[in-house]
Amino acid sequence: MRYTRMPIEIESPEEMGYGNIRYNLAESSVRDIYLRDLNIDLKDVVLFYGEHKGITKLRETIKEESKILTADDVLVTTGAATALFVMATTLLNSSDHLVVIRPNYGTNLETPRAINCAMSIIDLKFENEFEIDVNEIRKAIQPNTKLISITNPHNPTGKVFDEKLIQQLVQLAEESNCHLLVDETYRDLNFQTELNPYAAELSDKVISVSSVSKSFGAPGIRIGWLICRDKKLMHDFLAAKEQICLCNSVVDEEIAFHLLHNKKTILPKHHEHIRTNFAHFKQWFAQQSCLEWVEPQAGVVCFPRVKAEYKPDKEKLYDTLFSKYATIVGPGHWFEQDKIYMRIGFGYPLFEELKTGLSNLEECIALSL
Ligand SMILES: Cc1ncc(COP(=O)(O)O)c(C=O)c1O
Repeated sequence: MRYTRMPIEIESPEEMGYGNIRYNLAESSVRDIYLRDLNIDLKDVVLFYGEHKGITKLRETIKEESKILTADDVLVTTGAATALFVMATTLLNSSDHLVVIRPNYGTNLETPRAINCAMSIIDLKFENEFEIDVNEIRKAIQPNTKLISITNPHNPTGKVFDEKLIQQLVQLAEESNCHLLVDETYRDLNFQTELNPYAAELSDKVISVSSVSKSFGAPGIRIGWLICRDKKLMHDFLAAKEQICLCNSVVDEEIAFHLLHNKKTILPKHHEHIRTNFAHFKQWFAQQSCLEWVEPQAGVVCFPRVKAEYKPDKEKLYDTLFSKYATIVGPGHWFEQDKIYMRIGFGYPLFEELKTGLSNLEECIALSL
């Protein structure tokens, strides 16, 4: 494995120092929560090695919404990030090939690169409303293809790929005898759409990944999971987890259980906040002459771009935004795209922060032209 630090991590708000940022429009989660607000008593948690797959009650809660999945189809991991690492390093080696969409969450491209396997990157196009073309993926499949890798709801566009498309990809994976990763880390941020079942329900060739980071505002407890109905593969995934960390933090698991157990009261509040912010964001966007977007459907991010007729000084734009306005968004290069694209997160900021952050962005775009 050859590891490379990614720009999205080097320039992330936590690495830049939260104290230096006032208007944080770069996050892809809802606002981080405080432990004190959960009213949870952790005094009786025994600090032993936890169950290697993840504490049973947590796995039960994760699969609760499904009539098909069992707790044994769930492996708790240290955030979705580790689920993705476990999955990639188990399924792929340097003589294999995968098909992966881009833009994407960086790890979904970078870990296969670290493994040094061959990749066909399918670039989603703004002009095509960031839709996935199944035929393009089909054409990219090779005899040594082991994995098709997508993210849904999609980061950074906020696009939701419908069930029909997911079914087609499942069928393609089955025909091609490879696996389908559906990174569903944003699934509970369906603030205006129905929640689809986990894709892993559809076939034992599918691996779904998710976590409490984005929708519960709890990335600091590092709890995620992968779901797969293939028992042999789950055995191998567990072997990988045991070699990485044995088990999760039992404290983190207890907090994650509390969050998921109470999701029916917690999530609607987050969704309400997102809807309020999004309503303002849409209004603001409608007044922007320099920007264009594919309107997001779920999640808390979107990926607009500066219209082709405008030629901003891109370095100046992002530098001024940060250094003079203490405001950040996610520049395109975080996603291996030109910096005329930017990811804007509208779920993390408080309402007033979003308003000011957006008007700061508008001013900086004007200054950079
Ligand atoms: C699509 C996607 N998958 C996985 C992750 C990693 O999330 P976690 O904090 O659960 O490790 C992220 C974080 O940005 C993400 O955007």
